[in-house]
Amino acid sequence: MMDIDAVHLQLDKYGQRHLLRFWEELTEDQRADLTNEILDINLSEVDSYFKRAIESSENNNKILDNRIQPIDDVIVSKNTCDPVQLSKYQELGFLEISAGRVAVLLMAGGQGTRLGVTYPKGMYDVGLPSHKSLFQLQAERIKRLELMAQERHGKCQGITWYILTSDATHDATLTYFEENNYFGLNKDNVIAFKQGMIPCFDFDGKILLDEKHRISKAPDGNGGLYRALKVQGILDDMTKRHIRSVHVHSVDNILIKVADPVFIGYCLSKNADCGVKCVEKTDANENIGVLCQIDGHYQVVEYSEISKETAQLRRSDGKLVFNGGNICNHYFTLDFLHDVCFTHETKMKLHVAKKKIPFVDDEGVRHKPTSPNGIKIEKFVFDVFEYSRNLVAWQEPRESEFSPLKNHDSAGVDCPSTARRHVLALHKDWLLKAGAKLVQGDVEISPLLSYAGENLNNIPEIIQGPKVFE
Ligand code: UTP
Repeated sequence: MMDIDAVHLQLDKYGQRHLLRFWEELTEDQRADLTNEILDINLSEVDSYFKRAIESSENNNKILDNRIQPIDDVIVSKNTCDPVQLSKYQELGFLEISAGRVAVLLMAGGQGTRLGVTYPKGMYDVGLPSHKSLFQLQAERIKRLELMAQERHGKCQGITWYILTSDATHDATLTYFEENNYFGLNKDNVIAFKQGMIPCFDFDGKILLDEKHRISKAPDGNGGLYRALKVQGILDDMTKRHIRSVHVHSVDNILIKVADPVFIGYCLSKNADCGVKCVEKTDANENIGVLCQIDGHYQVVEYSEISKETAQLRRSDGKLVFNGGNICNHYFTLDFLHDVCFTHETKMKLHVAKKKIPFVDDEGVRHKPTSPNGIKIEKFVFDVFEYSRNLVAWQEPRESEFSPLKNHDSAGVDCPSTARRHVLALHKDWLLKAGAKLVQGDVEISPLLSYAGENLNNIPEIIQGPKVFE
């Protein structure tokens, strides 16, 4: 092990000597913990992260109105697609699944601070009649797709499910899956892997201490996925399994159509290396990023990066000009991921979030601030679109695709109540389309029975909830 003098030298070089200010008070074990934590950090990289992040946050604050271009001609809407064509896309997607070439990459390393739970968000139960968690709903959708692929093609080599976790979620996620027997999925096809952590800083670039002997760190954002894919050997695993199509999505969209065969088939039919699923913005003021081009490169632009006037621009058909709401739902080929991870990952944009970060002050007192006192640095999954050689965008109706669980119920939006309501409304719609005349109360359909409204032939005409069709 490096001796403490060498650690001092390193810390001095990068202006982080304060991390040892409680050294004299620490026990031997605590000293060892702190030394290991410091040695684990690549101080030169972390130092350049802080400088780059501050520089890019200054750039991000610039309004992009003069550089933004719409991409209406790129976005294809499912609603206007010919049904025959749609079933061709679906067939292509099922072929890919049955050949074992599809992986799902679930991003579940976030801390879920807005929802405010102490366990991984994927374990959250929004209060559906079945009380299934987000993880369970997703697992069962995968299981149903495997069965459908098997029925169509006489074989299904299985969908591989990669779950991105972080120090904040890894152990609890694994225990949860173990305890629930992987929800009936083949355990060998469920692979959790950890993303990296980045120290948290005060506004002057000093790394914060979470305890006298612990550095404050946070996951490196969902764009940390790319480094993790490389360093945790996941790209190699994908190659070994002959995976070609990877569906990447966030953990918190309760309606997520995991490995959607139509979307996958659409991307395959267009030979896309990168596919982006979008929904129309509800209105100009909705706080959601939009897919567009900046200086000719695909990018997701946040609501705060364009002026109100630009956000409100409308086309001649009345629709918003910048309308492709990004919902953290993407298709990548393995070749594209390889290229991103090995060629572009180290240049990825860094984003700064000002946060309330618990810290130990100079007197050794730990504080839980009530206003932002420091920054977390994050990479975003969508910041690789500019490297795509053939990006496609696929727009779906929001009510069947997107209802994110971000907040506590008190926020009134993107919260457990809205997630529950949207699932039940969608399932009611499926039942009515399948022939029911009256659906009352909370009626839920198990993903093991129906993935997207199919297979509901024998339902009664009058259905009274609460009820779960299994
Ligand atoms: P959000 O940015 O909404 O973050 O993540 P969050 O952690 O869920 O919630 P807050 O902001 O703390 O309230 C969008 C998706 O990206 C994943 C999340 O798990 C979620 O699926 N994510 C986020 C990661 O996998 N790693 C991260 O470092 C951050």
